Amino acid sequence: MVAAVRVHKVGGPEVLTYEDVAVPPPGAGQVRVRQHAIGVNFIDTYFRSGLYSAPGGLPFIVGNEAAGEVIDVGAGVSEFKRGDRVAYVQGPGCYTAERNVPADRVVKLPDNISYEQAAGMMLKGLTAEYLLRRTFKVQGGMNVLMHAAAGGVGLILCQWANQLGANVIGTVGSKDKAELARANGCHHTILYREEDFVARVKEITGGKLCEVVYDGIGKATFPASLDCLRPLGMFVSFGSSSGQIEAFNINILQFKGSLYATRPTLNNYAAKRADLVAMAAELFAAVGSGAVKIPVNQKYPLREAAKAHRDLESRATTGSSILIP
Ligand SMILES: NC(=O)c1ccc[n+]([C@@H]2O[C@H](COP(=O)([O-])OP(=O)(O)OC[C@H]3O[C@@H](n4cnc5c(N)ncnc54)[C@H](OP(=O)(O)O)[C@@H]3O)[C@@H](O)[C@H]2O)c1
Repeated sequence: MVAAVRVHKVGGPEVLTYEDVAVPPPGAGQVRVRQHAIGVNFIDTYFRSGLYSAPGGLPFIVGNEAAGEVIDVGAGVSEFKRGDRVAYVQGPGCYTAERNVPADRVVKLPDNISYEQAAGMMLKGLTAEYLLRRTFKVQGGMNVLMHAAAGGVGLILCQWANQLGANVIGTVGSKDKAELARANGCHHTILYREEDFVARVKEITGGKLCEVVYDGIGKATFPASLDCLRPLGMFVSFGSSSGQIEAFNINILQFKGSLYATRPTLNNYAAKRADLVAMAAELFAAVGSGAVKIPVNQKYPLREAAKAHRDLESRATTGSSILIP
């Protein structure tokens, strides 16, 4: 039996139940990982609350990213062996001391990336990679708006977009978060709970507006995010931390400047193993070189997963949060 955090009934953070679970030996094509650190992500709260359904139904183990050590391999696995340091995005099922994971979802960790860094960046960093390099290719001189710039994905996006030479504009919920975002490559911060962020983006860009908006907030920033885009700009709606965007009339994209809009997910971008491996290599190179740092600013014992969710949902966190089994 190993310690895990399960949901038996969807709801608030109080439904996260710390208990022992049995883990069978790894099946064909699986590796068994002893987890050293587990990432906490906003998507974990969508599964916990019932906004997203766990594919296997109830009860389920929460969590979508982790890092650890291979302790056993199933039939047919040749790429990994006992003792390999690995990380992966595969959920739900990560809030546990040990688990089996399909080997084709796992990547080896370079020696210069710690388990804690890896758990704080696999889901968030691979997301930043595809958002900046694949969904829309950010280039030097572009004006780029990131919402929740001091968050887990946000701080990685700011640093990476800065490295790419963009003019990085970020919205944040407090002055402390503004300072942190600026220390992580965000050139201009906007306190969007107090300031009109559309007016500020116009002012900051001298009326030129942005080539792309990365919006993980959803309901609260829509449709205002569209007004931050220049004609033919790209609206990337990649999350819903304030609630999901409701149905809208697609003609709004015409009237606001022949805009593009997309709602991407990491699962689609990393579906093929070759893409996952290439994206991870780019992320590890960016982090390994020091160009992008992974601020793991909250660390909790696994048994305190409910506190981690409360902190994340109440906007009390910055950067990445991890659980230690
Ligand atoms: N599509 C994908 O592939 C993908 C992958 C990873 C993450 N995501 C999405 O990216 C977003 C960020 O994820 P994360 O894990 O890095 O979380 P996070 O940004 O660290 O935390 C959420 C932040 O959103 C802001 N926020 C604004 N309104 C909020 C509200 N009503 N309730 C709670 N927070 C609110 C808060 O920052 P302020 O205080 O600064 O406003 C809060 O700190 C989430 O929407 C997530 O679902 C998508």
